[in-house]
Amino acid sequence: MDYSWRNLNNIYQHVLKLGMLSPPEDVIASWLVFGSKFNIENFLELGSYLGGGIGIFNQVLHETGHINVKFTGVDHLNFIGAKAANASGAWYTDHFNRCLSAEEIKSLATLSTPEDMSAWIKERCERLTNVPLSVTSVLHEKDAGSNRYDIIHHDYGDGVEENLLTMQRCLPMLKADGIYIVDDWCTGAPLRTWATVIAQQQGLIYPIMWGKNKVFFAKSKEVAQDTIKQICANPEYNGKLFKFMPGSDYFGSGYATIRMHWQAMQWS
Ligand SMILES: C[S@@+](CC[C@H](N)C(=O)[O-])C[C@H]1O[C@@H](n2cnc3c(N)ncnc32)[C@H](O)[C@@H]1O
Repeated sequence: MDYSWRNLNNIYQHVLKLGMLSPPEDVIASWLVFGSKFNIENFLELGSYLGGGIGIFNQVLHETGHINVKFTGVDHLNFIGAKAANASGAWYTDHFNRCLSAEEIKSLATLSTPEDMSAWIKERCERLTNVPLSVTSVLHEKDAGSNRYDIIHHDYGDGVEENLLTMQRCLPMLKADGIYIVDDWCTGAPLRTWATVIAQQQGLIYPIMWGKNKVFFAKSKEVAQDTIKQICANPEYNGKLFKFMPGSDYFGSGYATIRMHWQAMQWS
């Protein structure tokens, strides 16, 4: 599947089918970043939910030459699985009805262990994407293991303290040249955005690229700036749709960041 900006509408349909909670522009931003990195082997998703994100990230990684990525998904199973089976009227229930078959909803409601969750996500993603998936599910951040991750996707958390704690706990699990993606830089999780700004001010993370709702960070200034160079050297880099952000020298003299011009992408 083509994950470039040339295929925005089909990517949107695919996101709906998989049930990934993301705008398609963010998938395109991820495609550009993953395609610009040399080596991606381990991927941690904080908030794996239905696995829609993992399935699409796996496909995008495959498409960009990273073919044996091992995923770890953290999810406490409060929003999905057996505990959530009796919830009614919730937004998530509507989302289940929108993207899952009756059969899938039935099997989802039986999940009660991380092993159940891994098996359910693997089966569904492989069936819908035709790409082999290696995924291990765990219930808590602390169980994410001693793996060192190339990519961490932070996709849960409401309050400022809670999100800062997640960053403080998970950033040490990221390789020195890894990428930390914070989701919902929109009104989806305003205090997570706030926590991210504080983390930047504390020197924990350095911005690389603003997607639509996902923002990409590194653990050091050097890695952030090297990643910018790698993105610009990617033959798929399109400077009209991924623009240098004026004012980025706020982060240091000569510092560059990129902002995805998603409005232009929607009209291109
Ligand atoms: C917004 S959904 C993630 C969407 C998913 N990443 C995607 O791309 O489709 C958030 C998920 O995080 C889980 N969750 C929320 N807070 C958590 C926590 N503190 N620990 C573990 N899982 C949590 C919920 O059960 C829910 O399934």
